[in-house]
Amino acid sequence: MFHTSHIELSRSAYRNNLKYLQKLIGNDTKFSSVIKGNAYGHGLEHIVPMAEEFGVNHFSVFSASEAFDTLKMKSDSSGLMIMGLLDYEEIEWAIKNDIEFFVYEPGKLEKAINISKLLKKKARIHIEVETGFHRTGFEYEYMPRLIDYMKKNREHYVFEGLCTHYAGAESISNYVRVKNQIKKFHKFSRYFQRHDLIPLKKHTASSAATLTYSQTIMDMVRVGIAQYGFWPSPETHMYRFRKNPGESNLLRRVISWKTKIMVIKEVEPGEFIGYGTSFLANKKMKIAVLPVGYANGFSRAFSNTGRVLIRGRRVPVVGTVTMNTTTVNVSDLPNVEKGDEVVIIGKQRKLSISVSSFCQMSEQLNYQLLARLPSNIPRYVVK
Ligand SMILES: Cc1ncc(COP(=O)(O)O)c(C=O)c1O
Repeated sequence: MFHTSHIELSRSAYRNNLKYLQKLIGNDTKFSSVIKGNAYGHGLEHIVPMAEEFGVNHFSVFSASEAFDTLKMKSDSSGLMIMGLLDYEEIEWAIKNDIEFFVYEPGKLEKAINISKLLKKKARIHIEVETGFHRTGFEYEYMPRLIDYMKKNREHYVFEGLCTHYAGAESISNYVRVKNQIKKFHKFSRYFQRHDLIPLKKHTASSAATLTYSQTIMDMVRVGIAQYGFWPSPETHMYRFRKNPGESNLLRRVISWKTKIMVIKEVEPGEFIGYGTSFLANKKMKIAVLPVGYANGFSRAFSNTGRVLIRGRRVPVVGTVTMNTTTVNVSDLPNVEKGDEVVIIGKQRKLSISVSSFCQMSEQLNYQLLARLPSNIPRYVVK
């Protein structure tokens, strides 16, 4: 009621993925569940308790506002880490709330130390180093000053982590770059070690690195997309598949997205469907209008290319996706009715639609589509 579509989250798929990933990283490595972007669109309030129930006790977010939301969901014993933006004004709040955070610039470190002195409470910092991604992180040239400052202020922080992020471990085309990053990370790590600054955890791997570069699995991994059952890229899937030819369904999609048919109508040959002229009916057609458009997270890029499932059959999007509606061709479904279930992502009878199968237009489509799922679509946990 009051919603044009809903999302189902599979507990068993989520448990399967966490089990698989934990097995892959081994018992000595901590699993940090990356739940930025509303848990990649899955819904923070559902994913955090489920993750904890299945043994996860560390979460990673991008910003202070995401950390603020997560604090309300997680139990006190679970760690929480901000990997991105924490404004200087928010550092005090983070320290007071025991939130760990990435430090990637001198100003942030100084501010954290000054506040921890005032509060008489140690800041829990992860030093991010620049190994070649060129986003955030201390440059190697800055090491002497950083080390000096860290040594002088030892008692005001906990050196929770030394970390970096790879520039596209999901694609073989970045192989050399990633390998160089790994080398550079070790160079940084040795530098800290020489100066007796030992982080509690070294962590560098996201999903793709965890799945394909075993040497990047250190004391902790920061896994996002894979825990939700998505491969970061087809290459990553192929790599794991070749390593485990006997196993299938190593990762299972957690999310399903469903709606219902809003209107059915017939269109005469020669008529255009929807806005503009992007789809011309070349014979008499039966079409179904769905109450889901780009305002609901169904990208306009699926105009004339997307697919949904109705009555166990795959049917194509015709015309352009509008803000609130999408039209599909149901000419081959004789008994189709208004109110019929429509699966946008997920399984119906023998068929299923994966997120990536919408189209191959963008390697990052999984991430994009998920992150754009509005938080007001109701989510339900199912078996
Ligand atoms: C620093 C950092 N670590 C880990 C991740 C998780 O990445 P993935 O979803 O590919 O596992 C991200 C996501 O972009 C990230 O920015």
